[in-house]
Amino acid sequence: NSGALWGARFASGPAPELARLSRSTHFDWALAGYDIAGSHAHAKALAAAGYLTPDEESRMHAGLDSVLAAVRDGSLQPAPGDEDVHGALEAALIATVGPELGGKLRAGRSRNDQIATLVRLYLLDHAEVIARDILRVIDAIVGQAENHSRAIMPGRTHLQHAQPVLLAHHLQAHAWPLLRDLERLRDWSARARVSPYGGGALAGATLGLDPQLVATELGLERPADNSIDGTSSRDVVAEFAFIAAMIGVDISRFAEDIIIWNTREFGFVTLDDGYSTGSSIMPQKKNPDIAELARGKAGRVIGNLSGLLATLKALPLAYNRDLQEDKEPVFDSIETLEVVLPAFAGMVATLRFDVDRMAELAPQGFSLATDVAEWLVKRGVPFREAHEISGSLVRLCEERGIELHEASDDDLVSVSEHLAPEVRDVLSPEGSVASRDGIGGTAPVRVDEQRAALIAQAQQA
Ligand code: ARG
Repeated sequence: NSGALWGARFASGPAPELARLSRSTHFDWALAGYDIAGSHAHAKALAAAGYLTPDEESRMHAGLDSVLAAVRDGSLQPAPGDEDVHGALEAALIATVGPELGGKLRAGRSRNDQIATLVRLYLLDHAEVIARDILRVIDAIVGQAENHSRAIMPGRTHLQHAQPVLLAHHLQAHAWPLLRDLERLRDWSARARVSPYGGGALAGATLGLDPQLVATELGLERPADNSIDGTSSRDVVAEFAFIAAMIGVDISRFAEDIIIWNTREFGFVTLDDGYSTGSSIMPQKKNPDIAELARGKAGRVIGNLSGLLATLKALPLAYNRDLQEDKEPVFDSIETLEVVLPAFAGMVATLRFDVDRMAELAPQGFSLATDVAEWLVKRGVPFREAHEISGSLVRLCEERGIELHEASDDDLVSVSEHLAPEVRDVLSPEGSVASRDGIGGTAPVRVDEQRAALIAQAQQA
């Protein structure tokens, strides 16, 4: 076990069962590039404090560069005896620059402050990838909303026809949560840009190394204020896992709409062939698998968050090995989103909407009854009474099997003297939608403004 970072105080090596349990290289190897970046920064701090001569420092950087090249081209892999990425890389460095120089790098740092820093670097990079992927979904939504800026659909509450809305309004309602997810990632990254490096195992450093130098080299803002907190807190990981779960949930709500819209009964959308799947037995089938996988994988990313919180709950300070369990769930959430979001964006961008069918269904189910009541209010009828009158009209139409606009003049006055024939002016989906022109409403002018605001904010996020 030449790569072991400990062992002198042990009479025997680790039992094979322990080694198998303890090993983390199968997932923490993903941090190898960050580990080496940390080592470059640490070498600078050691040199600045006089622990490495200028010649030693430059040989150290050169050695680290060649280890990184071997990681990148795949010629360096963790050996079965390596406990973790840190030990594997130290062994590789020693093989490259010799034990004399290679053995100096570990002064003044611990795997505890290293890992707490490296995981932040990993998450910060992937936060950017995920943000770009989310922007592609928002772009796809905006593109569809622009192409269908005046199409009207049945708006629903309780999944029942409620009031007509613009399709663009509904689509954009799926973009705003994603925009807030982008803002969440940005807010989180301000908290994540703190460097635990220099905190040692838990209690801080004795060698007078400059932790700000290390933080700056790594692109982080500043060192952690408390070495115990820096090495043993993982709220920064849990918060990221929450944002990932929220993104999964936001996407799954849109996915569910698409799955319903794609049913024969709704018939609102057709999926592009490139973004739908077939059945091995039913030749006619065309399934919304992307949307279903997005919906299903939301459960998985929620599980990753729950598991991580359960690991952290009641964990005593400071570092405990339990904390090694933070990485697989959050890495999985990242990998999941990074495959779901691009596929989802492509599916949304290529959806074909049957706007005629949506328009035909929009006024059905008495979805203009609120418009009747509000028309009455504008004529001075108290809303309570207006609600009653409109409700009675709905009942009359339901009994007759007709829609509101099909009621005759006699039908109208039989319900209330207030129901003059002019009420039909508001009994069209276009009139209804246009009249909802308050801020945030579904009137075309408002939805266009809203889209401009959405685009502007997405560019800033
Ligand atoms: N692999 C550990 C982790 O992911 C870091 C190493 C710390 N190990 C230790 N025995 N203190 O948290």
